[in-house]
Amino acid sequence: MKKIAVLISGQGNNLQAIIDACEKGFIPAKIACVVSNKADAFGLERAKSAVIPTGVFLRQNFINNQEMDRQIGDYLANFDVDLIVLAGYMKILTSDFVQRFNGKIINIHPSLLPKYPGLNTYQRAIEAGDTEHGTTVHFVNEEVDGGAIILQAKVPIFPNDNVEDIELRTREQEYHIYPMVVKWFVENRLTLKEGIAYLDGKPLSAQGYACE
Ligand code: GRF
Repeated sequence: MKKIAVLISGQGNNLQAIIDACEKGFIPAKIACVVSNKADAFGLERAKSAVIPTGVFLRQNFINNQEMDRQIGDYLANFDVDLIVLAGYMKILTSDFVQRFNGKIINIHPSLLPKYPGLNTYQRAIEAGDTEHGTTVHFVNEEVDGGAIILQAKVPIFPNDNVEDIELRTREQEYHIYPMVVKWFVENRLTLKEGIAYLDGKPLSAQGYACE
């Protein structure tokens, strides 16, 4: 059975969706460990409740980012993980780490990338007068929120929506699409070759898999 690591910094709602999907057998894999760069991340409690080993790596305990990521990488390598799932991990990974696990790291970002990489995506969408928003699962490369797009889910923005309205709507989609992409990966249906994502041997378009 394939092994997954999940990296978090906060609430861990996406982590919970993946834990649930593994427990139900929807994702045929085991979560080998959960890593956090915050000691008080609530996601750590979720991992403990599911009896998943946890590793906490605090930046202040390392001389630089390279060293921190090297040790996180060694921790993950000890578990022999097949896939690294970033689920609200709020720290940019070093290029050494990204290269070490090339093609094995995925992220979820709350915007329709390439629109709005970075923070405050809901606020930015409102300020731009957008009528739709969404979320993107993508492979991780050395650019922040870059990397080949695997799957996006769109949500409407209605007049008078506030940040919380759009976040709630977007998050609901995240808890569906992220477990689905993890499933594809562990079933060997999803791969990255030379920066392009392939599903069932076919290259995905720039917006990822087209689904209704
Ligand atoms: C999610 O909205 C995800 O898109 C972003 O960070 C948030 C993490 O939330 N990358 P949670 O910790 O899974 O609740």
